[in-house]
Amino acid sequence: MIRFSDVTKSFGAKRVLDHFSLEIPDGQTTVLLGYSGTGKSVALKHIVGLLEPDQGTVDVDGQVVHELSRDDLVRLRSSIGYVFQFAALFDSLSVFDNVALGLRQQRRAEPDVAARVAESLERVGLADQGDRFPSELSGGMRKRVGIARAIALEPRYILYDEPTTGLDPVTSAVIDELMVRTKRDLGVTGVVVTHDMRSAFAVADRIAMLYQGRVHAVGTVDEIRRTEDPVVRQFIEGRP
Ligand SMILES: Nc1ncnc2c1ncn2[C@@H]1O[C@H](COP(=O)(O)OP(=O)(O)O)[C@@H](O)[C@H]1O
Ligand SMILES: [Mg+2]
Repeated sequence: MIRFSDVTKSFGAKRVLDHFSLEIPDGQTTVLLGYSGTGKSVALKHIVGLLEPDQGTVDVDGQVVHELSRDDLVRLRSSIGYVFQFAALFDSLSVFDNVALGLRQQRRAEPDVAARVAESLERVGLADQGDRFPSELSGGMRKRVGIARAIALEPRYILYDEPTTGLDPVTSAVIDELMVRTKRDLGVTGVVVTHDMRSAFAVADRIAMLYQGRVHAVGTVDEIRRTEDPVVRQFIEGRP
């Protein structure tokens, strides 16, 4: 389980997370929803120790992330897949080599790497695309490569940062379906950061809305759909 307990984080005078608390249960997909610039990506980065709280703690499976030794942090990161907002592929590497990157860092034998990469590309529907380069792919395909790279490491958790932002509705639906299947088939606990309501409703078991630095509302998809909370309603309905 991932747990934020009373996390406060500022950059200069700007307080981004303000006593932010959230429990992310295993085996489910939790969507963290919120306006742009509210600290969703900042929250994700705390889970893998890319940022450290000023106050409070983030723990994963009972281990406080910012207290881990270097080695333990490396171990923790190998159990967490991170799908970055802009796919973050290496343009000079083929699709195959991009997906293989983390496996090779773990010094796995090359036949094992090849098998794992093939299986991961198959899962995201890109089985025959291994030899292509990122510049030859559409935005949706690049996202799928990013997901394949995360899946290849057989993580317990996958963090998706804005997985559908900038994609057309059909391509977004393909990515949503992929996240749902990853949870169902691989038992992965997902954390999805997004401001795309349609995607949130499609993939979430639970939705938490981040507002003014903390969780303003949290509930199941149905609870959030039916809520009368004005802040949530305004966001869901996209009213100015
Ligand atoms: N490393 C950083 N240094 C300074 N400010 C940052 C840093 N990371 C994020 N911020 C600021 O924190 C706020 C929240 O950012 P972010 O988490 O990226 O928002 P979003 O909810 O859109 O993902 C923004 O105002 C951003 O400028
Ligand atoms: Mg962001």
